Amino acid sequence: MSREKREGGGLLLPRRQFVRTVAGSAAMLAGSLAGAGTARAANPDNLPPNEPEWAKALGPGVDATPYGMPVSYEAHVVRRWVPWLTASSESSVNFTPLQDLHGFVTPNGLCFERHHGGRAEIDPADHRLIIHGLVERPIMLTVDDLKRMPSESHFYFCECAANSGMEWRSAQLNSVQFTHGMVHCAQYTGVSLRTLLDYVGLKPNAKWVLAEGADAAAMTRSIPIEKALDDCMVAYGQNGEALRAEQGYPIRLVVPGFEANMWVKWLRRLEIGDQPWYTREETSKYTDLLPDGKARLFTWVMEAKSVVTFPCPEKPLNGPGYYTIRGLAWSGYGRIKRVDVSVDGGRNWQTAKLVEPVLPKCLTRFELPWRWNGEGALVVSRAIDETGYVQPTMYELQKVRGVESIYHNNGQQVWEVKPSGEVENVRLKYAS
Ligand code: MTE
Ligand code: CO
Repeated sequence: MSREKREGGGLLLPRRQFVRTVAGSAAMLAGSLAGAGTARAANPDNLPPNEPEWAKALGPGVDATPYGMPVSYEAHVVRRWVPWLTASSESSVNFTPLQDLHGFVTPNGLCFERHHGGRAEIDPADHRLIIHGLVERPIMLTVDDLKRMPSESHFYFCECAANSGMEWRSAQLNSVQFTHGMVHCAQYTGVSLRTLLDYVGLKPNAKWVLAEGADAAAMTRSIPIEKALDDCMVAYGQNGEALRAEQGYPIRLVVPGFEANMWVKWLRRLEIGDQPWYTREETSKYTDLLPDGKARLFTWVMEAKSVVTFPCPEKPLNGPGYYTIRGLAWSGYGRIKRVDVSVDGGRNWQTAKLVEPVLPKCLTRFELPWRWNGEGALVVSRAIDETGYVQPTMYELQKVRGVESIYHNNGQQVWEVKPSGEVENVRLKYAS
């Protein structure tokens, strides 16, 4: 069957364009991914019925590893970055290795990092959180003060608005880590922002909360008061331990379901006002330019999105047979209700199994058993959230948003599985 036929009259554009336009980076990507997940040949001396090497001598004792690190065989599971994407590493991003993760929690050391002025390394003894502005009783809190208050713990995903931002026009990066890795999911522990705002007492005209970070970028964002009083948190814990410096130690703002830019790290100030602060970030960067030249402003909620993490470019198939297609789905509006998976580019869909727990504003794992017959396939997923919203195709998304924005790309991701088992990022071209 020809590609055109498989596409219902449309054309399948292979990723050749990418190979031509950014050949240097293609070589770089190939280099950085080499060895990732490649199976080594077994040493027969260690296989049954022989006694393996590690069973013949005592292992290291409990004094050997005060803070545990992953086993050396998993050393390829790391955050990666794309040097040509940004001018410097201090104002840049690295990506979560989604292809190597299990379940829905991202280990702290693998959470993607996005800094505007590098990572701040803060002594908590010297850090303060100031809450002032349109409040009855302004306060200055230490980190210990926060820890004396009642705590909450919740799982939330955190996705940069620029996740998949390179992919608006066409298939670009041949890697799920680079196309979708600006998302992580963790259990946050801290104080509910509502508790803090109740404590300082909001004045009647309090409408916005300006959050400011203590990093070199002094990043600031304005959050509407309704959201601040709903489910935001000032977190000091992440996945059971203190926040990592990369994620905002000693405290960060957690703004569930909203774009990660508003999750201010190294939080030092909350100023309550009656209008948003139009910082450079808000007006020039975190808006979505539309085809008519107008821009969408205040597009805070991350809409339903999903991606298949196996198979994917980093995880090819090893011959025909039985597999489990796996992926992640999430929505800033609440719970994932359903995920559909297609192996023919979206012509036919099957409902995937959602792996419990299915939590609101949290990554949700999905799975679908698949017997691969060894023929070319186009694997794609679409998420449906509890509001009934269906993750759009890239074609549907582009019709409404154009291709000028780099933010809020939640279109369906298509992976082409070749008869060799290799997997490539492709874009389906639909007949218009
Ligand atoms: N907060 C401060 N203080 N400085 C920053 O540069 N970057 C923002 C947000 N909070 C940023 C910040 C952006 S754009 C994103 S995507 C998230 O932090 C990234 O959070 P992470 O580094 O924990 O993944
Ligand atoms: Co961001």
